[in-house]
Amino acid sequence: MRHLIDILELTVEELDELCKKATDIIANPEKYAHKCAGKKLATLFFEPSTRTRLSFEAAMYELGGNVLTMADAGSSSAAKGESVADTAKMISCYADIIAMRHPKEGAPLVAARNSTIPVINAGDGGHQHPTQTLTDLLTIRAIKGRLDNFTIGLCGDLKFGRTVHSLINALVRYDNINFVFISPDELKVPDYIIDELKEHNIPYEEVTNLETVMPQLDFLYMTRVQRERFFNEQDYIRLKNSYVLTPDKLDTAKSDLCIMHPLPRVNEISVKVDSDPRACYFEQALNGKYMRMALILMLLEQSGDGKPEPLDGELIVDELICDNPKCISSTEQELKHMFRLVNPEMGICRCVYCENKKVRGA
Ligand code: NCD
Repeated sequence: MRHLIDILELTVEELDELCKKATDIIANPEKYAHKCAGKKLATLFFEPSTRTRLSFEAAMYELGGNVLTMADAGSSSAAKGESVADTAKMISCYADIIAMRHPKEGAPLVAARNSTIPVINAGDGGHQHPTQTLTDLLTIRAIKGRLDNFTIGLCGDLKFGRTVHSLINALVRYDNINFVFISPDELKVPDYIIDELKEHNIPYEEVTNLETVMPQLDFLYMTRVQRERFFNEQDYIRLKNSYVLTPDKLDTAKSDLCIMHPLPRVNEISVKVDSDPRACYFEQALNGKYMRMALILMLLEQSGDGKPEPLDGELIVDELICDNPKCISSTEQELKHMFRLVNPEMGICRCVYCENKKVRGA
């Protein structure tokens, strides 16, 4: 039984296959027009979305399937206090596959543990967004013809930007990727990702100034400051305009730079940049539909017996308590607090839902 909760669940070979499948779908849509006839995708969106939900739905329709949609959490039983686990159990009786977006980190994992059909994480709080990464990988591959040997600058809200987290996790597995993280000090990449980079000796730089690093970049991945994740509106107001990409700032950039953005943009890319041939963000959005078609096909083919696979790693159950208020364990009824032992010598553990760090015995 396959789900897609974290991009790391897909091997490099599977990522390659998904890109190839999406490319074939683009070239031969008629071959795929009935592949999901009689199947239903349920889109459960507990947070706003335009591209992700509609591209999932367009993907299922273009595969000949149908869609059950819950776009407004306020009109669902979640508003009455239903747990994610119960929702997932119920939807398993109505649909063949679920795409879920939720403000709590780890909610799609809870859904996957309780569902008998594949669950796709369509964004969980400020944590991960693996299907945006599939879109990004297809875009990079289509433009450069490869997924290795380049320098990528990720700019903006690297702390709360879930698309950034999943993209870094995916790219660390390819050769010779140099990461340049451009953010204000308050919005730096979370430590669980930096730990991974250090462990694998992956080169990265953390800077605050976009202009100084511009000439070295092959890709510039801009992101929105994630207002909805801030605890304090004043902090958001202070940081929201940290970076605004305008045509003059691109004067020193490579002629074959590729500017990406998961969208929606607020004002971090001027609309004047849209006519620059280096702007790739609208093409990137279109790729989302094809990659989601490829993913739905893959997961439905491998849906197995409906039983959840055991979680990997050494698990510590109900010994440590996750105190992250954004973690699904803070609201889900009777959910066991589960940590994975990531560094046995030092007793370092991370919450399986949100990666919050705890030291055993501390
Ligand atoms: C992103 C998201 O929801 O995380 N949008 C998307 O899915 N394309 C980025 C964002 O909201 O800033």
